[in-house]
Amino acid sequence: RLAASRGSVAVALSGGSTPRALYAELALEPLRSAVPWERVHWFWGDERFVPADHPDSNARMARAAFLDHVPAPPENIHPVPTDGASPAEAAGRYAAELARVYGADRLDPGRPLFEIVLLGLGRDGHTASLFPGSPALAERERWAAAATSPDGLARITLTYPALESARAVAFLVAGPDKADILRGVLSGDSDAPAARLRPAGSLTWFVDEAALGGRAGGAGP
Ligand code: 6PG
Repeated sequence: RLAASRGSVAVALSGGSTPRALYAELALEPLRSAVPWERVHWFWGDERFVPADHPDSNARMARAAFLDHVPAPPENIHPVPTDGASPAEAAGRYAAELARVYGADRLDPGRPLFEIVLLGLGRDGHTASLFPGSPALAERERWAAAATSPDGLARITLTYPALESARAVAFLVAGPDKADILRGVLSGDSDAPAARLRPAGSLTWFVDEAALGGRAGGAGP
């Protein structure tokens, strides 16, 4: 998809652990040669409000998995600025950076923010850092907001307007512990944050057998 695109494009990366293996593939052939590194700008769908070198940092995970090992121009990498006073301040700066790269601070329906948005699915149905019951779920103007995870950790998240402004949204879901929530979200009658996403473009679910409720690794007993 990126290779077929034209001009500058933006990708929003997911955090968490599931995408790590996918990210590592981007640093290896054949994907390494297929990605037009000079034209792709890398953002994150959400971030923990921790220093860039903190073990919980989503940006740190992606840099270690591929961004530090590919010819991506440093100016094309746009981590959430978590060195400021607060998650709200970080969200404001991050949205401003996204608008700078996009070239406008109002969304043009004909020109999505992102070519690709990668998302994960939490067991509670959250995606990015849009958690059930979060005030950020109601944000329809600003592109980024402060959030708090259920275990009380400060986060910054892109909001629905930003996440939905995408030519392609891809969820990556793996493992048996996601089977229940995935079934609910795919059933169409869930109001989980992940189920509410209405992308402008395509929506694709990449799931493994275990997350589909199958038996991981072949026939069960
Ligand atoms: C994060 C992610 C989050 C993640 C889900 C699934 O910052 O943690 O953005 O939304 O995608 O929690 O996480 P796992 O892939 O680790 O199960």
